[in-house]
Amino acid sequence: MKRAEVPALAAHGLEKKYGQVRALRGVSFEAYPGEVTALVGDNGAGKSTLVKCLAGAIRPDCGRIMVKGRPVSMTGPVQATKHGIETVYQDLALASDLDAAANVFLGREIRRLRVLHDHKEMRRRTAASFAELGVGLVQDMRVPVSSFSGGQRQSVAIARAAMWAKHVIIMDEPTAALGVIQTEKVLQLVDRVRSRGLAVVFISHNLPQVIEVADRIEVMRLGARTARFRRGEVDVERLIAAVSGAYSNEADVPNGEVTA
Ligand SMILES: Nc1ncnc2c1ncn2[C@@H]1O[C@H](COP(=O)(O)OP(=O)(O)O)[C@@H](O)[C@H]1O
Ligand SMILES: [Mg+2]
Repeated sequence: MKRAEVPALAAHGLEKKYGQVRALRGVSFEAYPGEVTALVGDNGAGKSTLVKCLAGAIRPDCGRIMVKGRPVSMTGPVQATKHGIETVYQDLALASDLDAAANVFLGREIRRLRVLHDHKEMRRRTAASFAELGVGLVQDMRVPVSSFSGGQRQSVAIARAAMWAKHVIIMDEPTAALGVIQTEKVLQLVDRVRSRGLAVVFISHNLPQVIEVADRIEVMRLGARTARFRRGEVDVERLIAAVSGAYSNEADVPNGEVTA
């Protein structure tokens, strides 16, 4: 995948403390358009905290966030959305009693006569988007997503993000709860989203999967970025070494003090 010069999303020197715990200690991060950037690290490394800062869900104590090279003030999730960033959280956050289209348009409903929701139009656009993304939902579009499989629900969540994201989609463990075939479908969807030119940020514990899907891999440890790799530069063994702290190729490695 050709690497664009300016990151779609970047962070420099983000710090975040929870009481005495330094969840982020000067972490930097970059994600490029048309690329999947995987974020890996052990539990407690700070991945979710970083993602929440990038998505406007929490505010860092200091540091800068940039969208397409411009510093932005990420004061909340609405700002992130305005800057073209959509996030798929681990817990999905779909409304299970609503159908796929109602979920896709949740909070952004198309209205008829200003008040009525135009369900027909929302279903039409959702079906078109799913077709474009290769999401093959077989069900009737009026069925609530509670009757979908885990993989189908994950696909709806990703398709929703892909429909609204202008620059970046962030996914925190999108395949963690899925079986082999469902996982493969979600990875194909990730591939389509990438080929549309979006920057995809992908958090996963599955290191072989990360090596397969990612154009770039950023490794976090103790709240800092400790290693970075491009596609083809790393095997599972070295990636494990990087995650555990036995290997690093970044300058600002934390000194190993215990954070919690
Ligand atoms: N809301 C919170 N309150 C207190 N500590 C937190 C909170 N969120 C995260 N932490 C702490 O910050 C550190 C990083 O956590 P997290 O970002 O969830 O790591 P990861 O996603 O890589 O597993 C951990 O030590 C965790 O316990
Ligand atoms: Mg996490």
